[in-house]
Amino acid sequence: MKPPKLHYWILGCFSMALCCGCTADTSLLSDTHPHTWDKLYLAHHWPVTVCKMSANDCEDPPEYWTIHGLWPNKVDDCNRTWHFNVTEIKDLMLDMRRYWPDVLHSSQNRTQFWKHEWDKHGTCAATLQILNSQKKYFGKALDLYKQVDLNSSLLKAGIKPGSTYYKMTALKEALTRAYGVTLKIQCLPPEEGEKAQTIGQIEFCFTKNLELRNCTEPKGGSKGMQTGLQLGTGELSVCNDTLPTYYPLQVQGHK
Ligand SMILES: *[C@@H]1O[C@H](CO)[C@@H](O)[C@H](O)[C@H]1NC(C)=O
Ligand SMILES: *[C@@H]1O[C@H](CO)[C@@H](O)[C@H](O)[C@H]1NC(C)=O
Ligand SMILES: *[C@@H]1O[C@H](CO)[C@@H](O)[C@H](O)[C@H]1NC(C)=O
Ligand SMILES: *[C@@H]1O[C@H](CO)[C@@H](O)[C@H](O)[C@H]1NC(C)=O
Ligand SMILES: *[C@@H]1O[C@H](CO)[C@@H](O)[C@H](O)[C@H]1NC(C)=O
Ligand SMILES: *[C@@H]1O[C@H](CO)[C@@H](O)[C@H](O)[C@H]1NC(C)=O
Repeated sequence: MKPPKLHYWILGCFSMALCCGCTADTSLLSDTHPHTWDKLYLAHHWPVTVCKMSANDCEDPPEYWTIHGLWPNKVDDCNRTWHFNVTEIKDLMLDMRRYWPDVLHSSQNRTQFWKHEWDKHGTCAATLQILNSQKKYFGKALDLYKQVDLNSSLLKAGIKPGSTYYKMTALKEALTRAYGVTLKIQCLPPEEGEKAQTIGQIEFCFTKNLELRNCTEPKGGSKGMQTGLQLGTGELSVCNDTLPTYYPLQVQGHK
């Protein structure tokens, strides 16, 4: 998937009259350009579900929603020469460790996950002035995460992890009521012989002005495309409205 995209991106640059990089005053151009982005996803994932999906070294996953990434739609890997440099975000380190942990590789070098997010998504988001450095990109993602405060909204709506099954429609309604916009909710489909899906990821959509907007579900589903990381066996996809939904508290509790 990657080479063709890069190819289009390069072609796109040429068709924009060699104006790559002078993003500050090309907003009119970029809005009509087919290969630029118009929406940011702030993806939260539920660490317990992420660990269930993969045989990696998850250890005591946090029992709160953590950041997966801040992703412009439609584009990937926009600038392969802009290398991740963890020193640039050293001031954010406490928050990064707590709210943006590498759930799957808890005992390894956790900066790999941030590097992946920067390379794939941050370099694309950086066309916006408010996100045009590593410190701004990661810092703004953390700000938005705190602003939406998904942990609290779910708790306030009485939605807690554990052994209860939720109706997807009730979950969606509670979240739409809390935020005034529709979110994108992804689940791990039922395993063979099971009837419940497992909630795994919740994405908020933002405009380029970083205002909340509705997430419209892509036609035909773009499975995996926006999961950002290779997550092993299972794949998240848009939750099925009619299946009971499990919100697990422990990695092993579900068999
Ligand atoms: C890519 O990133 C490098 C390093 O920050 C920068 O010098 C260059 O202008 C960027 N290229 C584009 C097309 O934005
Ligand atoms: C990483 O960032 C720091 C702080 O901005 C800078 O001093 C250092 O030279 C950078 N390292 C590389 C390899 O670019
Ligand atoms: C962790 O990974 C980063 C980015 O790839 C690298 O710069 C750093 O040296 C690594 N640290 C350790 C302790 O391996
Ligand atoms: C989410 O909940 C956890 C556990 O209650 C807490 O540590 C964390 O600070 C919360 N996140 C935010 C952004 O409030
Ligand atoms: C967003 O979705 C809600 C709920 O479906 C709807 O009432 C509202 O009009 C939508 N807002 C916009 C700006 O499309
Ligand atoms: C949702 O699940 C039901 C019951 O298993 C199934 O009949 C239906 O096809 C599913 N819908 C989608 C969109 O996958």
